[in-house]
Parts: sequence; C-alpha cells; structure tokens
Amino acid sequence: MKRDIISVLDMKKDFEDFVEEGILLKKNFKSGKRDSSMDRKTLGMIFEKASTRTRVSFETAMTQLGGHAIYLSPRDMQMGRGETIADTGKVLSGMVDGILYRAFEHDNVVELAENSSVSVINGLDNLEHPTQIVADYMTIMERKGKFKGLKIAYIGDGNNTANSLMLAAGLVGADFWIATPEGYEPPERFVKESKLLAKKHRSEIEVTNNYKEAATNADVVYTDVWVSMGEEKEKEAKEKAFKSFQINEKLVSLAKKDYIFMHCLPAHRGLEVTNGVADSRNSVIFQEAENRLHAEKIILKKVIK
Ligand code: CP
Ligand code: NVA
Repeated sequence: MKRDIISVLDMKKDFEDFVEEGILLKKNFKSGKRDSSMDRKTLGMIFEKASTRTRVSFETAMTQLGGHAIYLSPRDMQMGRGETIADTGKVLSGMVDGILYRAFEHDNVVELAENSSVSVINGLDNLEHPTQIVADYMTIMERKGKFKGLKIAYIGDGNNTANSLMLAAGLVGADFWIATPEGYEPPERFVKESKLLAKKHRSEIEVTNNYKEAATNADVVYTDVWVSMGEEKEKEAKEKAFKSFQINEKLVSLAKKDYIFMHCLPAHRGLEVTNGVADSRNSVIFQEAENRLHAEKIILKKVIK
C-alpha cells in the first residue's frame, strides 16, 4: 500500500524515526557516503505557490539520491486550464513515482492523494506543513539532544506551520506553548488532537494570548510570517494585530539563556522578528533551512519504495 504524507499525523507511529534517521542521513552525506535509493525514480512537484526551500530541497534530494524531479506550475499545466485534480493524479501516477504538492487548499491535497496510486507528499497547504516539521525537530534534536522536558514557544500566527509543529510536539512529548493575538489561535481540532497526543507523555499544550508567558523560560522560540501566502488581503489588519507579538531582544530576554530561535523562513525582518534576534548566536534558522534537504531525503526514502 502507498504511504501519503499529508499531515504530521501520517507520521504518528514513526515521527521520531524520521527525525533520527534524517540526522543520520545528514551525517552520512557529510562524511562522503552516497545513497542511490531513488535511482531512476521521478518525483513530480506541483507548486501552486512560491517556494525557495521546499522546491530546492526536494529537487536536490532527488538528485543526490540518484533520481529526478520535475517542477510543475499550474500556470503551465493543463490543471491551470481546468483539467481536474483527479485526472491530473491519475495521469501523473502512470508516469512518476511520487508527487509533491504545495496547494492553497488542504482538500485539494487530499483529493490528489485519493486519485493517485503513487504517494502524495504535502509541500504546504493552508492547514499544515509536515515536511518542514521533520527538519525542525531534527534541528531541535541536534541542538538540544532531547524533546521531553523542553518548552517550545511558538509566538505568532496560528497557521499551517503552527498546526504541524504543535501536533509534532504532542507526538514527541515536548511542552508546547502557542501565543497568538485574539482571533488568530490555531483551529480547535488541531489543539484537541495535539492535547490528546501530549496526554500520553504527560506533556503540555498551552494556547494563550500572552506572549510573555509563552516566552518565559522557553528552550525554543519559534515564529513564522504573520501573513501567509494567499492571505495578502489581510496584510494591514494582521500587521496591526500582531505588532506586539514581534520576537525582539526584549521578548527573548525572558527565554532561557541557551534558547534557540527558529523560523521556517522566509522571514520578514523587522516585522515578526528583528535582525538582532534572527542574526544572534541563538538563532539556528540556517541550520533549520539546511536540514530541509536531509528531511526530504528521509521522507522520500520512507514513501517511495
Ligand atoms: N519554509 C518553507 O517552506 O520555505 P519555502 O516557502 O521557500 O519553500
Ligand atoms: N505560513 C507560511 C509558511 C511559508 C513557508 C505560508 O503559508 O506562507
């Protein structure tokens, strides 16, 4: 049976294996070991929205593993002229070995997966960003050596990245605090599911509007853009609502001394984070970005057989 990665929950049983094996793949790659497990395999990559990291990391991962990736934009595909998602899935399944899909709508990723006989990987949609989260927890493990007992503070918008990060905190048993302005909390079903997972580890998932409380004693301070792709119309209102949620030197002074600053990037410097924090010694944003490459490799190896 094929394996899709549409949500972090599709890694429910083995999320920590993705993290550990991803770190191992990175070490092996850096020490010169080569892996050709994608030999003659092809990944089709549909991007409805812009991307730097996700596109380059998946394309490079396929190349380094001996395979090939095709970048597909709906602007150039028949999908952009009305061919259905279902037909696209069926056609691509006859040609490629896996499909990466960055979509505006989560339901469209589900529909593509339901109509594809090859694995579909969610490269970000309006609700989740699962491939990012494998790289993020690899970074946390590399820096902190554990998950249990850590306080991860996500301060910003209750968006796709936040939902996936919170579910994964529940899976690994880290304490997770999310602070958003009122009205921008993560969807209730993600909070409920994450709390249910956390219960097994006796860890906490806290949703608050108090960013100071979230930052206090944090081991990890994480943020993302305030205005996600597709929300451009809300820019003005959101920038106003989020103003005091900026990650700046004053706010991170509440975190532990050896806290790490994380951001999935792209960052809007001067808005959700100051240069002072993004470029500080505590910032691991570029290690986190580099880890996308190795995270994609483990994801590909686990789903494309
Ligand atoms: N973090 C992330 O997914 O970046 P891109 O939008 O550049 O792919
Ligand atoms: N939340 C952001 C993440 C970008 C990688 C967005 O959806 O635009």
